[in-house]
Amino acid sequence: MARGKPVIVVGITGGIGAYKSCELVRRLQKSGFCVKVVMTEAATRFVTPLTFRTLTGEPVAVSLWADEPHSKVHHISLAEEADVFAIVPCTANVIAKLAQGRADDMLTTTALATEAPLVIAPAMNTHMWRKETTRRNVETLRTRGAVFVEPGTGELACGDVGEGRLADVNAIADAIEVEARRCRDLAGAHVLVTAGGTQEPIDPVRFIGNHSSGKTGFAIAEEAARRGARVSLVTGPVSLPDPFGCEVVRVQTALQMRAAVLARFSSADVAIMTAAVADFRPAAMSAEKIKKTDAPASIGLERNPDILAELGGMDSGAILVGFAAETTDVIANAQGKLAAKHADVIVANDVSDPSMGFGTDHNKVYFVTGAAVDESPVLGKPAIARDLLDRVAALLEAKRG
Ligand code: C5P
Repeated sequence: MARGKPVIVVGITGGIGAYKSCELVRRLQKSGFCVKVVMTEAATRFVTPLTFRTLTGEPVAVSLWADEPHSKVHHISLAEEADVFAIVPCTANVIAKLAQGRADDMLTTTALATEAPLVIAPAMNTHMWRKETTRRNVETLRTRGAVFVEPGTGELACGDVGEGRLADVNAIADAIEVEARRCRDLAGAHVLVTAGGTQEPIDPVRFIGNHSSGKTGFAIAEEAARRGARVSLVTGPVSLPDPFGCEVVRVQTALQMRAAVLARFSSADVAIMTAAVADFRPAAMSAEKIKKTDAPASIGLERNPDILAELGGMDSGAILVGFAAETTDVIANAQGKLAAKHADVIVANDVSDPSMGFGTDHNKVYFVTGAAVDESPVLGKPAIARDLLDRVAALLEAKRG
């Protein structure tokens, strides 16, 4: 992932604000970024690709079919190169397409293919901006982690006065720079993440387990890798594919998870334990499947080691993050765990609400540290991963002085 200048791909859609993107491109170049442009057909009615080609010195991508020959499929190479993908201006139509995951032109295909953070600066007529359907699309994208630079109020090209004007170019450039900085802020760090639930075998076909989907841990691992960290992800059995760019160790039991974590902890700068580790395991696993007729009335249990507490006891200097799923006294219990496990941060959530937490795509969490309790809004798990890693990056920077 180490490259020269960070690459900002600027996507331009068909609105009169497209002319302001020329200024944006210049400002980003002055700030030290390599800028590449992708336009919709409609955008080329407002500003020609030649303008951007001249400004950037790079080919401008417009069509999936008719561009200049390129060494790699162009939308994929752009998607991979992008440190940040900014869509400025972004029409209501393109916002709707992004929310639906449609990919019917060069710009939306690149947006769907990229792993880079999306910065979206909408510009449209006030009524279009306020429409329920647009609001919903914006919300959908926001919970997936897109950053919106809200439009300003003023005279619009259609003659109306109101909300919908493209935000100030400097504000847009600032938002892009924040994202660009963020995408390298864990460079050089080794981040160890646990995820999923463990399965504790009773016999060869049965186990004690839980409902953890692994989504939060996988989102954190993926986001940490995107931000330049070397990531080791130790996960219990889950049905998620390996996140891009991470070392993935798949284990079944708490003891296997502990061994995989301990083998990697000495080089870790950060350990983020999201796994729902089974607190107990059957004291003895039957080598044969237990017959219904011979089933014991009870199963003897043994306590599993608490991996996070064990890391906390080592005083290694690594930043330790734990998770706490609670149904009552969420904050007080999280503060108790923070102290008991010697963690730096506990991310606490209330799992009494079945619409959030385990297995869902959203969550509302509290970041509990020795100094403060910060409440997050309801966010998608990737957005929670980003918020958590912002905090971790700040702690790392403070530690490195
Ligand atoms: O004590 P409790 O299980 O609620 O603590 C949750 C936190 O501790 C999570 O971060 C979880 O990954 C970690 N943990 C662990 N090993 C265990 C139990 C919990 O690492 N055996």
